Amino acid sequence: MTNKINIQVKIGKLILKNPVMTASGTFGYGLEFEKFFDLGKLGAIITKGLSLNPVKGNPPQRIVETPAGMLNAIGLQNIGIKNFISEKLPLLKKYKTPIIVNVYGRKVDEYIEVADILNDTDVAGIELNISCPNVKRGGLQFAADKKAVEKIINRIRKKYKKTIIVKLSPNTGNIEDMAIHCERCGADAVSLINTIVGMAIDIKTKKPVLANVFGGLSGPAIKPIALAAVFKVSKKVKIPVIGVGGIMNYKDALEFMMAGATAVQIGTANFIDPLTCVKVIKDLQYYLKENKIYDINKIIGAIKLE
Ligand SMILES: Cc1cc2nc3c(=O)[nH]c(=O)nc-3n(C[C@H](O)[C@H](O)[C@H](O)COP(=O)(O)O)c2cc1C
Repeated sequence: MTNKINIQVKIGKLILKNPVMTASGTFGYGLEFEKFFDLGKLGAIITKGLSLNPVKGNPPQRIVETPAGMLNAIGLQNIGIKNFISEKLPLLKKYKTPIIVNVYGRKVDEYIEVADILNDTDVAGIELNISCPNVKRGGLQFAADKKAVEKIINRIRKKYKKTIIVKLSPNTGNIEDMAIHCERCGADAVSLINTIVGMAIDIKTKKPVLANVFGGLSGPAIKPIALAAVFKVSKKVKIPVIGVGGIMNYKDALEFMMAGATAVQIGTANFIDPLTCVKVIKDLQYYLKENKIYDINKIIGAIKLE
């Protein structure tokens, strides 16, 4: 039925069997979801943010539900890149889907060291998180600093052979300018958006709900913001744009692709229904068939403005 329909897309040097990836931090290291479905069905798996050394993350409470999404202040808790390579990567390899590591550093050099370590592994690409709103050092500090971003991308590009994606945020500065800057510095693609700074207060205790006070807002609440960012950025850069923010179903995914995204990432929806990614992949195929569209690439940027 679907054999005639092409759903492959290209991101840098990577050919994805379909445009649906998992959003970093919402799908663990991938393995946590293997009991729900065959991970090989995914376009790509993006791991939670990994740093050079293990990180404990922020103290609890780290998550709170909001009317149309959630706030998180995990603080990039992770097992460190070397443990990921020795413990998780060998188990992920059996799934014939590209593994992309989301990289986080407290300093410029840390991003470069992690990329160096990944160069000779089976990891298919890296996504540089320069836009996390809930850590004290790194993260947003870089999203606003063009010189630091240039250093990170230039120095990684010199040695790193595979695909480099840079994850951007609407929290600081102009996201279009930053996307153009990343393209010039040698990024293969940009992904947007990361979460948006938010907070919640417990009216009984008068204290912030999150121990970190601020958290990152995700889910349907941020979809219109993410969609506008993808639309604007994709007009300004030639490299692929990956859309992320509040995608709950195939209709949301289609909106992002029509706005100009070559691929999409699904995050918060995984907490509600761990099968969301596979459902979106299947429903996209039905949509294409119903509408006699034989190549999903025809949807990219198909928005009509008149
Ligand atoms: C619990 C949680 C943890 C996250 N951790 C990361 C992370 O480690 N690195 C990163 O780049 N983005 C991280 N994000 C941001 C998501 O990848 C995504 O950009 C954002 O949640 C918007 O997509 P969504 O609305 O589909 O969740 C995290 C989001 C959540 C909800």
